[in-house]
Amino acid sequence: MNEFAQPRPLIDQFGRAVTYLRISVTDRCDFRCTYCMAENMSFLPKSEVLSLEEIEQIAKIFVARGVTKLRLTGGEPLVRRDIMTLIERLGLLKADGSLNELTLTTNGSQLKRFSAQLVESRVERINVSLDTLDAEKFAKITRWGRLQQVLDGIECALDAGLKIKINMVALRGGNDHEIVPMMEWAHGKGIDLTLIETMPMGAVDVDRQDQYLPLTEVIETIGARYTLEDLPLDTGGPARYKRVQETGGRVGFIRPLTHNFCESCNRVRLTATGELYLCLGQNDKVNLRDALRQDGPQAVADLLDHAMAIKPKGHDFEIDRQKPQKHVGRHMSVTGG
Ligand code: GTP
Ligand code: 5AD
Ligand code: SF4
Repeated sequence: MNEFAQPRPLIDQFGRAVTYLRISVTDRCDFRCTYCMAENMSFLPKSEVLSLEEIEQIAKIFVARGVTKLRLTGGEPLVRRDIMTLIERLGLLKADGSLNELTLTTNGSQLKRFSAQLVESRVERINVSLDTLDAEKFAKITRWGRLQQVLDGIECALDAGLKIKINMVALRGGNDHEIVPMMEWAHGKGIDLTLIETMPMGAVDVDRQDQYLPLTEVIETIGARYTLEDLPLDTGGPARYKRVQETGGRVGFIRPLTHNFCESCNRVRLTATGELYLCLGQNDKVNLRDALRQDGPQAVADLLDHAMAIKPKGHDFEIDRQKPQKHVGRHMSVTGG
């Protein structure tokens, strides 16, 4: 417990306990994935972005209120300057037992540089976004990325002792034929794979309706070749997992469009500017940065009670040609997924 300790846990209006904070440390990224960003993005001015000290302060207030899992996201979290100093500081919360998990979701481009330090900071596992193993296609999907750099990064992370889960957004006509090969590749390395349905967030330069691939179809495709068995595994995230008998590995399925999981939502999202979004698919938010800068840490703690009272029931993403698209205006990189 720290100096802002309040025993009250964070319980929302629907009785869900919030124990998982996702922190987007920057909206910037060294890639431009087509489903995530437009090619020409405008980014936030520095003065609006929380300092690393402010992020740490806010994270500690959450931990004092019962948050046990922190995930750093972006944009790409590892492109933020001096990010390792924040990760080291948050790692101390793991060391003193107030945190169960400190982790990150990364595009993998900086893992060669940072894997050893991540392990030293008590990060045990990371999620790496990787949608294809084909170098040309990778360049096309990420626009600015180089596949080999990510593959090298993954090897470094494994060598350093990090557990890895690959996140793959399923894209019809994009990587649908690569899902089974990706699974085989990952399982061959002791890596789990999680498949994700593309979510309509922010304007991008591609047609989401063309890209949308319901995971119901993917489960059938994998099931035709492999024996899938439901697993009770719960990482605290939205994925539901299956064991693949033949490989011994696990595949997770994140299905915001075909299998709503909001009922068991346990998470909220802090943006780089200190706004706390209460649902990935809604606009409800509170401004923790202004509370912190104007009135101090107690004001932040108080605002969390209000946040719990307005956390919405769930998203209403829809991708259906017959209906007008329901989406949110901000890009995924604002909240880091
Ligand atoms: P684990 O700790 O390994 O379970 O990770 P995670 O799934 O919690 O985090 P990750 O950053 O890997 O997220 C994977 C995908 O799940 C991203 O595309 C997120 O946008 C999506 N996701 C996470 N939480 C939610 C949520 O509450 N709603 C929706 N619709 N998607 C979510
Ligand atoms: N729909 C689903 N997942 C997305 N991601 C980025 N944009 C989208 C989208 N529109 C994924 C990334 C990363 C995670 C944080 O979110 O691939 O794995
Ligand atoms: Fe960057 Fe991740 Fe968005 Fe790709 S999905 S542009 S890697 S933030």
